[in-house]
Amino acid sequence: MAEIKFFGGADMPLEMHKVRIIQKLNLLPPEERVKAINEAGNNTFLLKNRDVFLDMLTDSGTNAMSDKQLAAMMTADDSYAGSETFYRLEAKIQEFFGTKYFLPAHQGRACENILSETLITRPGMIVPMNYHFTTAKAHISRFGAEIAEIIIDEGLNAASANPFKGDLNPDKLRELIKTRKEDIAFVRIEAGTNLVGGQPVSMANFKEISAICREADIILVLDASLLADNLYFIKSRDAEYKNKPIAEIVREIGELSDIIYFSARKLGCARGGGICVHRQDLMEKIRELIPLYEGFLTYGGMSVREMEALTVGLDETLDMDMISQGPQFIQHMVDELSALNIPVVTPAGGLGCHLNAKEILSHIPQSKYPAGALASALYIISGIRGMERGTLSEQRNPDGSEPLAHMELVRLALPRRVFTLSQVKYAIDRISWLYQNRELVGGLEFVEEPKILRFFFGRLAPDSDWQTKLFEKFKKDFGDSL
Ligand code: F0G
Repeated sequence: MAEIKFFGGADMPLEMHKVRIIQKLNLLPPEERVKAINEAGNNTFLLKNRDVFLDMLTDSGTNAMSDKQLAAMMTADDSYAGSETFYRLEAKIQEFFGTKYFLPAHQGRACENILSETLITRPGMIVPMNYHFTTAKAHISRFGAEIAEIIIDEGLNAASANPFKGDLNPDKLRELIKTRKEDIAFVRIEAGTNLVGGQPVSMANFKEISAICREADIILVLDASLLADNLYFIKSRDAEYKNKPIAEIVREIGELSDIIYFSARKLGCARGGGICVHRQDLMEKIRELIPLYEGFLTYGGMSVREMEALTVGLDETLDMDMISQGPQFIQHMVDELSALNIPVVTPAGGLGCHLNAKEILSHIPQSKYPAGALASALYIISGIRGMERGTLSEQRNPDGSEPLAHMELVRLALPRRVFTLSQVKYAIDRISWLYQNRELVGGLEFVEEPKILRFFFGRLAPDSDWQTKLFEKFKKDFGDSL
């Protein structure tokens, strides 16, 4: 990564790419934004993208692709079986992770489905992990297993100085092995731990957890969907790895894991996914489900064009200029918001900037979904679409009670190489206005609540006329400005 200092002393990221294709954006007037978010049931997943100005919902499938990725797409070999494209991708994965076998799947959650079905052999099993991801937990629960979150305590502390808040607590893992070894289906490490704010796992922790699993003969599964960000943090926060080539770090991580799966909507900036395995016996067990759920073994539900883009995208993940772009923009946003005393998750992680709704809207109880309310309010006053990552994103307990999330976050994802710095500055400006006017924001209540993954389709309504008051204050302060 090139280090570039500004003569004027500014501390800000500089894009190491140029933009050659653009898409026009649309910023609706605020009164139409109030209407749009209510038509969407105050659920940002249900907004139409044409009504969104800056889409910070996710980085999933929305990262900008490079010229080389787009060019590679044209070389795709379209065939059901034995496509050249598959063999190119398989060879790249073997070189990248050092794993022998690659089983393609249409996206990350498909891998979670298949791994859960293969490795959870009876109800009552347990899957220890640093922290759950929504779809991983939903699949694991579907097969009758429970998850055990053994992230270090600091991981759930929104404001912290710990550089690797995604680490697992090795003592908790040892304790589980002592008391419930036979019940452990596998151990899952999530790189760039999504739901706690894109927080990385350290190499020291990878090594320790892997050693514990190997000694106990337990399968270690790595979710590498957010590995690119995690690699950036290993390079930039761990002195031991500062000068180590990224390719060597990935190989080291590959050797420490038994199975690696990933969403290629994130890792590799394409659309797809896959499961990488060292052991033949494991591969053979998992392989049976690929043609059943995904597609033949040489495409697994992916388009061959996307597979070509993924092959190039994985190579580009080894370039520090590429993997630093997202985290540096996020760092900038976190620094600027922190300077305004606005509660955000620190240290800055990958994936996006995470607003701490529990603190920002401390007057709203968790049962009224403060993170959902903040996401709705932010859309109204800016046209920016964020994602609720709090109690709404949890699922109810089997007895119908509602677990309150550890954290109430609004994630503002920065898909890689998509937004410009002035757009990020617009977001900071509007968030700062909203923070000044936070007392105007009220809670949300469910109108329609689906049983599974309710945050995707659930519809909510404001618990008072707070949105009208917020809109009126916006008009008063901004006049005719959008
Ligand atoms: N694992 C992690 C850590 C993820 O962040 C995701 C997806 C998945 C697995 C599932 O992959 O979407 O390809 O099926 N995260 C997206 C997000 C949806 O917005 O954070 P998928």
